[in-house]
Amino acid sequence: MKYRTFGRLGWQVSEMGYGMWGMAGWSGSDDAESLRALQRAVDLGCNFFDTAWAYGDGRSEQLLGRLLRANPDRKLYTATKIPPRNRVWPSRRDLTVDDCYPPEHIDEYVRRSLANTGLPSIDLIQLHTWEDSWLSDPRWLRKLEQLRREKLVTGIGISMNRWEPWNGVEAVRAGVVDAVQVIYNIFDQNPEDQLFPTCQARNVAVIARVPFDEGTLTGTLTENSRWPEGDWRNTYFVRENLVASVRRAEALKPLLANPPGAGRHPQTMPEMALRFILGNEAVATVIPGMRKVAHVESNLAASDAGPLPAALQDQLKKHRWDRLPTAWSQ
Ligand SMILES: NC(=O)c1ccc[n+]([C@@H]2O[C@H](COP(=O)([O-])OP(=O)(O)OC[C@H]3O[C@@H](n4cnc5c(N)ncnc54)[C@H](OP(=O)(O)O)[C@@H]3O)[C@@H](O)[C@H]2O)c1
Repeated sequence: MKYRTFGRLGWQVSEMGYGMWGMAGWSGSDDAESLRALQRAVDLGCNFFDTAWAYGDGRSEQLLGRLLRANPDRKLYTATKIPPRNRVWPSRRDLTVDDCYPPEHIDEYVRRSLANTGLPSIDLIQLHTWEDSWLSDPRWLRKLEQLRREKLVTGIGISMNRWEPWNGVEAVRAGVVDAVQVIYNIFDQNPEDQLFPTCQARNVAVIARVPFDEGTLTGTLTENSRWPEGDWRNTYFVRENLVASVRRAEALKPLLANPPGAGRHPQTMPEMALRFILGNEAVATVIPGMRKVAHVESNLAASDAGPLPAALQDQLKKHRWDRLPTAWSQ
């Protein structure tokens, strides 16, 4: 496992981190299996874990707490998120700080996350949605800074809305956040335009989330994929999205079979997806969602394999897919 510096906080974080949404919300989750996968990740050198109160109303945070207690001698970085008070994901231009993150709500949910994880302090607290317009009403920031002075949190971050990599650039520029969490993968390359250079200029850490585009970039979905009733993916992978995403993922497979250039070529779609992201130095850590030991083992090995051969990385740039939020994109 290789480590990267987490922006101005200076932490040395594993470049392969861990996304903890699925284990507390997606169908087919099993706590015992998830805990085995989490422990395997620790054993392989992963030290950055991303969760949120909203992932199972505290269930994911509680699993993280169990992992931390099982590994008292390891420094494991914990990143969690405060849900918006109105429970609206993603945020919208007309929503205010009072709608989403009034100070008393921030206070309440930091304490809930501390209780769920059993920690005295959270390393990185993130707002689970974001609008740059909230910079003009800094009550949310004053509350987080007060909690930081009380040593209940260390770093402050924002988790940016899907397909809005512009909506957070002002927060980075203003110097008020230590980290941003943004979707970045072979399809969603547009954080490279404005967000990443601004983060690099301000020494703000980038957490690259949804590396597999919620599954399509693993190459395992088909145009007929369906999930058990109640699984959120049925509402995200509506026909229009599923068909287009699967076709674009299929278009990547010839690159795996006949990779251009010399060097250590990826053997699988997940490996190619992760190593593409590691090729960008602005990224501090990538957080694939994982619930299975086998996925942990293969994904964490992507760090040892390193960035892709340059010719393949260049070819993948052509698969950029700029999308705009829609009624189903969430
Ligand atoms: N608004 C926000 O702040 C927000 C939104 C979305 C996500 N996130 C964060 O980002 C993390 C990652 O995103 P995500 O989990 O939504 O999507 P993702 O990482 O793009 O995809 C996760 C899916 O990929 C599968 N997978 C993982 N490794 C695999 C492998 N080697 N081979 C085949 N399949 C593999 C997982 O299966 P298994 O689960 O069965 O292992 C899961 O179905 C989340 O867990 C969460 O921490 C944050």
